[in-house]
Amino acid sequence: MLLRTAAIRRLGRLAPLFCVVALVLAGCTPDHYPQTALRPLSDFGRIGDDIQTTTIKWAILVFVLVEGALLYAIFRFRGKPTDPEPTQTHGNTTIEIVWTVIPALILAAIAVPTVRGIFQMNATPAADALEVQVIGHQWWWEFRYPTLNLTTANELHIPVGQTVSLKMGTVDVIHSFWLPRMAGKRDVFPNRETRLWFKADSAGEYSGQCAEFCGMEHARMAFHVRAQSPEEFQAWAAHMQTLRAAPAAAAATPTDSVQTASAGATVQAQAPGPDDPQYAAGEKLFQAKGCVACHSLNAYDAPKGLIGPNLANVGARSYIGAGTLKNTDENLARWIENPQKVKQGVAMPYLGVKPEDAKTLAAFLRAHQ
Ligand code: CUA
Repeated sequence: MLLRTAAIRRLGRLAPLFCVVALVLAGCTPDHYPQTALRPLSDFGRIGDDIQTTTIKWAILVFVLVEGALLYAIFRFRGKPTDPEPTQTHGNTTIEIVWTVIPALILAAIAVPTVRGIFQMNATPAADALEVQVIGHQWWWEFRYPTLNLTTANELHIPVGQTVSLKMGTVDVIHSFWLPRMAGKRDVFPNRETRLWFKADSAGEYSGQCAEFCGMEHARMAFHVRAQSPEEFQAWAAHMQTLRAAPAAAAATPTDSVQTASAGATVQAQAPGPDDPQYAAGEKLFQAKGCVACHSLNAYDAPKGLIGPNLANVGARSYIGAGTLKNTDENLARWIENPQKVKQGVAMPYLGVKPEDAKTLAAFLRAHQ
């Protein structure tokens, strides 16, 4: 009885420590982290997560059994100073076989799902998968949909419930495509194709990041994925296909893009239309300042090999500069005025654009949704 009271009192003294540990562990919840791999939202993501969970379960079991046995032995067989020297033993074949076989079986239990997972992740996706070509650039991402003849940048639209097959490469250095909630990390190389596939479970906007140091602005090489219902995705693709070289370009008006271009398009409602004088002034500046040399405004049948990101729907994107800034009018104008101030070393040079011209250009680009 006395012993039990002492033990309870000792536990009571440890209560503050338990509270602190609980508080610290509460901070570990993956819900607050948009780039957590611990809450997978695709079949591909779950393969890795299942392997990790299996491994952790085995590790916990081993830890509890081994540490439990150790603590039991320490307290149960604790010697007293008056005890005689214990019997000395040299090896025990039975025990040695047992503690060799048990870890081998545990490793096999981990290896089987791991190897199966590796094969599943490297399998060729089914023929009905949506193919997307991913091209890494210092420091932004180009996405091409060959079957739809569409090109976009930094924001990848995908349909929920359909496998997406990514075929990836880069035009310069090695990057790494990483979309934690949907897919694993895959390095992308010049002159070599790497592949990745996944099928998104749920609609939403998810962020990803280049995960391989690729130069000064590696940290500002993010991208976003907009997983949409198949209908929304079809509408988006159909709308993007209207963003093409004249004369069909006239079909794209900011009004229908607000309906089809999905979330993040709220600020774009007041964007000037092609008949607006500000739009015309912006268009002139876009030519005069040489923007056309690096950027295309056609999503459909876009020219290949341009240095700068495709801007056909830039007005509807959530971010500019590959996740560097929120896509507001002020930030867009700030970027155009001097991109080097925002993202040092970026391929877009300081073009000496005056602040009022930057605003006009921003308004012109805002109309491109
Ligand atoms: Cu691209 Cu880091």
